[in-house]
Amino acid sequence: MNCYTAKTIAYIVVGLISLANTYGANDNKYLSPLKILASKEGKNLYIAEYTANQVAVFDTEKNKVTDTIRIPGPPSGLALSDDRNKLYVTVASPAGKVCIVNIKEKKVTENLPVGHTPTAPVISPDGRFLYVSNRFDNNVSIIDLNTKKELTRIPVKREPIASAITTDGKFLFVANSLPYGSANTNYISAVVSVIDTKAQKVAKNIKLPNGSTELHDICISPDGKYAYVTHILARYQMPTTQLERGWMNTNALSIINVQNKELLNTVLLDDIDLGAANPWGVTCTRDNKYICVAHAGSHEITLIDRQKMHKKLENAANGYEISKSLKDKLYADDVKNDLAFLADLKQRVKLYGKGPRGIAAVGNKIYAAEYFSDSLAVVDIANKNQPKVVSIKLGPEQKLSTIRKGQLAFHDASLCFQQWQSCSSCHPDARSDGLNWDLLNDGLGNPKSSKSLLLSHKTPPVMVTGVRDKAQTAVRSGIKYIQFAQPAPDKANAIDQYLESLKPVPSPYLVNGKLSDDAKKGKILFEKANCASCHPAPLYTDMQKYDVGTGKGLEKNQKFDTPTLVEIWRTAPYLYDGRANTIKQVLKEYNEKDKHGKTNDLNEKQIRQLAEFVLSL
Ligand code: HEC
Ligand code: HEC
Repeated sequence: MNCYTAKTIAYIVVGLISLANTYGANDNKYLSPLKILASKEGKNLYIAEYTANQVAVFDTEKNKVTDTIRIPGPPSGLALSDDRNKLYVTVASPAGKVCIVNIKEKKVTENLPVGHTPTAPVISPDGRFLYVSNRFDNNVSIIDLNTKKELTRIPVKREPIASAITTDGKFLFVANSLPYGSANTNYISAVVSVIDTKAQKVAKNIKLPNGSTELHDICISPDGKYAYVTHILARYQMPTTQLERGWMNTNALSIINVQNKELLNTVLLDDIDLGAANPWGVTCTRDNKYICVAHAGSHEITLIDRQKMHKKLENAANGYEISKSLKDKLYADDVKNDLAFLADLKQRVKLYGKGPRGIAAVGNKIYAAEYFSDSLAVVDIANKNQPKVVSIKLGPEQKLSTIRKGQLAFHDASLCFQQWQSCSSCHPDARSDGLNWDLLNDGLGNPKSSKSLLLSHKTPPVMVTGVRDKAQTAVRSGIKYIQFAQPAPDKANAIDQYLESLKPVPSPYLVNGKLSDDAKKGKILFEKANCASCHPAPLYTDMQKYDVGTGKGLEKNQKFDTPTLVEIWRTAPYLYDGRANTIKQVLKEYNEKDKHGKTNDLNEKQIRQLAEFVLSL
């Protein structure tokens, strides 16, 4: 090889490296717009760009980004002070914080420490307090904005993800994204926790209909009367034999009466033959006319005529006449199962971008943050019958890496027959929805707890029964038998790569990233009680099947694939049928005969220490 060629090759290599930097799998090159907040007069939008660690300032008159503000981590939520000088940005990390941004100077001036993966900052109407939902600590921080001190943390149920405050500031409605409790019961749903802001405690937990999971957003109408919550309404009690008419998952909006803090009703956003998958952001137009919902899975927004919807709900409460001649009536209880209820009261508007999540309304315009296409949807509804839709790029066009394509495919309901659901409808963030499902891979009548997909590709076989040889097979079966679609090889491969790229989130049980004293003692017990023989580090599974005495009914004496214990703090309920809500139950209540490790001779304290260790993984 002569010198010249060597040099050329060197140039080519350097060229490839710089190309790789531009187009490589590095997530930071994407913006991933997640949340949008409009300034009071609507001149600016603040857009939290999750993977770019920045907030973009978008001018609604010039229709473009005029500034970006660097944030020291992924921005997960935004709030604006009433004097408009300060923007509060939650940063989603284990040692979470709220950044205070001076808007004029476009920079962070202060950081206030809060809990694990904070989101949903909300300022009280009098401007004195800031509320922040610490998603993985399952609590809400109250911060005094004068002293900048955190006053207290109020425990809520599970993964608080969004909140809204009443117009008088007396109550904060907090949406817990996942159900809490055993999954093998007849009623399981996520709740909305109502915090009495003066008493600083939960006044009430409002149960949503059976099967409500994956709450994403909540807003209170400008007239202060209702709270609207987006979520999935899972029909988990049905075997997953078909998708027609929302047989598996429907997509819903629950309506809460703010005055009496009771669930008014739940309406479905789908149509009879077309799902409106993964409802995410929700807001009302300021004139009180419309409720607007962004659908992250079906890439659209829905506009619901508020007054007409409430009128119809009122009628349903008294028996709504569907057909005079047939004397057919619809009652309030039927609404949540009626795919036609909103038919003439809503309008679905298809967007050009992918994965709309956060939403905001200014005048006649609705804005949605299109997570996967790094764009902002602008829907002009001045002419209601013909909404005008554009999608504005928020940065330079980026070629999607295979991982990013896989992440999109995983969240994309357009791959599903009639777009009823995406993979994320049962595996939010590729984890578990907290429900049991009766999938067909192991026969009928034996529901299994939905599994987290973290480490699936590293721990074959998969499924509770180990019926699939490896995760790749399960991915393709999922597309075929759950989405009722043909698995296109490039999409299935991309999903594999996305799932393989998942990293565990550090446990909230760690103290400064290390095992607590109790967990350290638990680690020793983990060896002593023989746990490590089947759950050895670092994957905490030996990938073998055992009968650990948990099988009941059809599953009596059944061997189950040993699950990984990594990130188990996040994936309750436990055991194949989700019967155990706590690790303690796994170790005591459901291990009478010591077939599942030797736990019977452990005292209360030791069980607590062992659980603490397991929950730290
Ligand atoms: C209707 C709910 C539902 C949907 C939608 C769904 N899954 Fe699942 N998935 C489950 C349940 C429940 C299990 C565990 C069942 C079992 O173990 O028998 C599971 C298990 C898996 C596993 C095995 C995990 C392991 O480590 O054992 C993989 C991989 C998987 N799903 C991938 C997908 C993909 C990819 C999609 C989208 C194409 C998808 N799932 C859609 C409910 C669902
Ligand atoms: C003989 C092998 C074996 C031993 C020993 C063992 N496990 Fe397990 N473990 C399993 C199997 C198999 C399952 C799945 C059981 C089921 O789903 O009903 C499981 C499930 C679990 C779960 C629930 C996981 C989930 O996602 O639902 C936890 C927690 C757990 N084990 C912790 C422990 C601890 C702590 C010990 C020691 C006291 C221990 N295991 C000892 C095999 C074992």
